[in-house]
Amino acid sequence: MSVTIAVANAKGGCGKTTSALHLSVALADVGYNTLAIDIDAQHTLSRHLGVVPRGIPTMRNVLFDGASVQDVAVEVRPNLRVVPASLTLANADVSLSQLAGSDLRLRRAMTSPDWDICVIDCPPSLGKLCMNALVAATHFLVPIDSSAPYALEVPAALCGSSCGSSPTPAPPAAALQVPVPPPCAP
Ligand SMILES: Nc1ncnc2c1ncn2[C@@H]1O[C@H](COP(=O)(O)OP(=O)(O)O)[C@@H](O)[C@H]1O
Ligand SMILES: [Mg+2]
Repeated sequence: MSVTIAVANAKGGCGKTTSALHLSVALADVGYNTLAIDIDAQHTLSRHLGVVPRGIPTMRNVLFDGASVQDVAVEVRPNLRVVPASLTLANADVSLSQLAGSDLRLRRAMTSPDWDICVIDCPPSLGKLCMNALVAATHFLVPIDSSAPYALEVPAALCGSSCGSSPTPAPPAAALQVPVPPPCAP
């Protein structure tokens, strides 16, 4: 079974895209066939991976037109494809909320995985786009900016929503725990 890691936190600027980028590239470099998915309208991950999402199929086609992730994925380096996002996702949370099965759309577009590991870069919200990522995920990773006040409150809410609100039950994603190394001795 392939592993799908959603990198999520409703807070912006805490390192989601940076984590998703470096994780995807590192996994590809050590030989895993990796699929990076950008589900954030700001499409920073797509840009960092060298994809300019103009005039090409994007995540919007996956969520609204029935395209599979393979239909849309762009190869960016050996072992690494990215499903690009674009600004056309800006109103997707609202549009999705009017559709049946709106939390399941990404999961349904990933039913024939031809990759080993998938990494999804989520937007800074707990809206429908993020929910699609969490429902599709087997694991989730929550980068935390520990200098921010109340930094742990949003991740707690995220853990509570990790199995989505869909009528079709999806197994809840497991939290990936990244051990923090102890401080170096002075
Ligand atoms: N571990 C880190 N240490 C210092 N700066 C970081 C770290 N991770 C990310 N950043 C910086 O923080 C900013 C926001 O990171 P980004 O990954 O875009 O956050 P998000 O996707 O959560 O909005 C960027 O300028 C990035 O270079
Ligand atoms: Mg980001």
